[in-house]
Amino acid sequence: MQALIFRSYQQPSHKKKHPSTPNSRLLTLLAATVATTLFLLFLFRHTLIDPNNNHCISPTTVPLTASESVIAAEFEATPPTLVTILHYATALALPQQTKGEIRRAFDVLQSLAPCNFLVFGLGHDSLMWDSFNPRGTTMFLEEDPKWTLFALQRFPILHADTVHYSTRLSDAKALINSYKRDCATVSHPLKGDWQCMLALSNLSNDVYDRDWDVIMIDGPRGYFSAAPGRMAVIYSAAMMARGRKKSGVTHVFLHDVDRDVEKHYAKEFLCMKYRVGGIRKLWHFVIPPVVNASDIAQGFC
Ligand SMILES: *[C@@H]1O[C@H](CO)[C@@H](O)[C@H](O)[C@H]1NC(C)=O
Ligand SMILES: *[C@@H]1O[C@H](CO)[C@@H](O)[C@H](O)[C@H]1NC(C)=O
Repeated sequence: MQALIFRSYQQPSHKKKHPSTPNSRLLTLLAATVATTLFLLFLFRHTLIDPNNNHCISPTTVPLTASESVIAAEFEATPPTLVTILHYATALALPQQTKGEIRRAFDVLQSLAPCNFLVFGLGHDSLMWDSFNPRGTTMFLEEDPKWTLFALQRFPILHADTVHYSTRLSDAKALINSYKRDCATVSHPLKGDWQCMLALSNLSNDVYDRDWDVIMIDGPRGYFSAAPGRMAVIYSAAMMARGRKKSGVTHVFLHDVDRDVEKHYAKEFLCMKYRVGGIRKLWHFVIPPVVNASDIAQGFC
């Protein structure tokens, strides 16, 4: 916000310095600037889009609205936490999890941050998750390349990658019955395990090489039979947790456990004995590492 004030008052007529500004004046100034900025954002959010400028946008990028562009540009000079507040104060779409669900992961992140936080699914809550892990590493994995690009344009401070899923929700039953035969047959429990449909075998090394302290599973889509479903994510998150090299445990949050596939896969791979709590559609697991993550002949639990 300092940058906001700075910029707003850089016109020649306001060049005078205030070496010992009293707090009340600073507060008035701050309030006035925020109010003015929000008012301008509101006023210009439609008019700033120049329809003749569309040829500048390459076909792979998604055009941002004026207010999205303003927020995106703000990240360059303003502390991310303040831009995050500005974003959510002016956002029309809000995070999809409920307050209680968000609070559960928030508390764990507060006790661990800065930590390694892996989030499956990119959405209206991404900037919020990122800001809950200050100075930590937060990485988003998203199924839709266009949505990933759009999110990175809007929120350039996020780290996100696209994941290709080769599963379909309708295969869930067959996959859970065949994993002991098909999976964990290569040297790495996930990487390059092409035969295993449940292994996310083609992620970037950044994802494989890090011990993730917290994993949030809120994607990909799993509400119609042709959707990828969360089978591979649940299996892979369990493998990451089992294969942890650092001391300590892995917190795994699984959202949408009101659905059968999420519930069955959680019971098979994340294990009810590791479930430490849950609220509404969110389950919370704390999973310890094992000596040999690839040793799955006896199952995961
Ligand atoms: C793995 O990912 C890379 C880069 O994203 C891609 O070029 C390659 O085709 C993928 N390989 C397979 C077998 O999916
Ligand atoms: C881990 O378990 C797998 C499957 O049982 C086995 O093939 C592999 O040799 C084991 N690795 C080590 C290091 O013991």
